[in-house]
Amino acid sequence: MRQHVNPLSSNFNQIERIPSLSQMFSNSESNLHLDIGCASGEFLFDLALFNTSWNYLGIEIREKLVKNAKLKVIEREIKNLYFIFGNANNILNDVRNKFIIKNIKSISIYFPDPWFKKRHYKRRVIQQGFINMLSNSLQKGTLIFIKTDVKDLFDYMDCTISSNFHFKKIDKKDFNYSESFNPIKFKTDREKYVIVSQLDIYEKIYIKI
Ligand SMILES: C[S@@+](CC[C@H](N)C(=O)[O-])C[C@H]1O[C@@H](n2cnc3c(N)ncnc32)[C@H](O)[C@@H]1O
Repeated sequence: MRQHVNPLSSNFNQIERIPSLSQMFSNSESNLHLDIGCASGEFLFDLALFNTSWNYLGIEIREKLVKNAKLKVIEREIKNLYFIFGNANNILNDVRNKFIIKNIKSISIYFPDPWFKKRHYKRRVIQQGFINMLSNSLQKGTLIFIKTDVKDLFDYMDCTISSNFHFKKIDKKDFNYSESFNPIKFKTDREKYVIVSQLDIYEKIYIKI
């Protein structure tokens, strides 16, 4: 069982300098997808290699995972994938990084750390303030995808996002994945484990209106 990293630790107050989109990607005009809490990035490698007409950006708080993922991007000469180390909340709240939020077409927050104890809820990635910041800065039409196997966490995330009236739920059956960041529905590492373990998966898609 891995030890969860406390995102509120002062270790994460210092944010690495984030390059411009044209420094991150060979074609900075392509649609951009952001995966928050991407772990080793395997999901994003699958996506970037399959769907070369999109750019993929992963943010992860465990530094070693990001270092390894960055090395792999260089070794494989992948031009539509970039990783950032740090606390996603701090990074995306920083005014210098507003260009990321303004340019993304979709965000996935898949199987985020649940932080079961009530006094630890403040460590969860999805917070009301974070959702308000997204609703103020995202372009209309931007999609947010959430998935988890923890029902309480799902209810918390769904309630937090839905209580912001700039986000509307999209019914999964009305959603056409073929045009999305994940046209053939690659699965994250956690999702593969959850499927093998026959646990339930709770998911929702929201659109900024
Ligand atoms: C349970 S894992 C799920 C990983 C992956 N999304 C998946 O579905 O397999 C959650 C990941 O989010 C990362 N994480 C947690 N809080 C974060 C934060 N505030 N910013 C960036 N990454 C975070 C953790 O280090 C961990 O790698």
